[in-house]
Amino acid sequence: MKPQHIVNQLLGEKLHAEPHLTATAFAPTNIALCKYWGKRDECLNLPINSSLSITLPNKGTTTTLTLQNREIDSILLNGQHIDPASTFAKRLITFLDLFRTEKQFHFEVNTTSNIPIAAGLASSASGYAALVLALNQLFHWDLSNKILSILARLGSGSAARSIESGFVKWHVGIEADGMDSFAEQLPYQWPKLRLGLALISEEKKAISSRVAMRETINTSPFYACWPKKAAQDLVLLEDAIAQKDFKQFGETAESNALAMHACMLTAASPICYFEPNTIAMMQTIWRLRKENIPVYFTEDAGPNLKLLFLAEHEPILMKEIPSLDVLAPFKD
Ligand code: PMV
Repeated sequence: MKPQHIVNQLLGEKLHAEPHLTATAFAPTNIALCKYWGKRDECLNLPINSSLSITLPNKGTTTTLTLQNREIDSILLNGQHIDPASTFAKRLITFLDLFRTEKQFHFEVNTTSNIPIAAGLASSASGYAALVLALNQLFHWDLSNKILSILARLGSGSAARSIESGFVKWHVGIEADGMDSFAEQLPYQWPKLRLGLALISEEKKAISSRVAMRETINTSPFYACWPKKAAQDLVLLEDAIAQKDFKQFGETAESNALAMHACMLTAASPICYFEPNTIAMMQTIWRLRKENIPVYFTEDAGPNLKLLFLAEHEPILMKEIPSLDVLAPFKD
């Protein structure tokens, strides 16, 4: 099935709505605790497993869409004009094509992000979510969060989870058209929870998560174990969140991330997002745990680590890792 069928089905007559001239929206980024790794449908970004994330309230992307009288879209990223022939622009324009009616609207897309782009800090998640929210405003579609989540998923899988705040679960779904594969907020808060961004490198990643997922599925002998591991971790995480069992929460998130990276490392051409300083930081975390400081990490498709800990341990962690950018996902 093609993304255009899904968009037509979801929007129907709304696709012909008269737009405002301009609209601005912000979407936060999210960090997966149980990762999305592997697609059962590459066109619709349908996952092989359900995933669970936490939304970072103040880190993300702000996008302004303005209708323009030109034959092409123009794209500004953090104030810089992007070459329309670049992979970044082509992907974005192909996504916008899904929402163009016969009137052939073209847009100026002005997007700013307060997170490093493509460094495994989920910039595409907030990017495509912000774009969908801006389109929703521009054409005053007034869509539900479920539909916004499905539309954001068509841009980037993890973007499905950036529509909601707090703990968010993206349902794997079983339908071929993906109408049951969307993200929902879980009814839990954890005010004492902290997430620390340990920035190792802001360099653009050498291999995209899209390609890395495909290579892992096709060639890693360990990938066969992944769906079962992810399903078990999801249950453990939901249970840990409901009970506020931080040990189970941290252990499961860290083990899930390492299992995902183990699959990548065993792909036919090994995919390694670790840098020497990533491993040095992991060793610091493991040392701190031996010293009875409960801190865990997770890592996505990039060298940066996100640390999980509770508010009471923030002072000691700031002392050990002064560069840590500490975020409180919930109001304390
Ligand atoms: O949405 P994508 O294609 O950028 O993939 C995201 C993959 C991970 O960040 C590694 C895991 C996740 O669930 O966010």
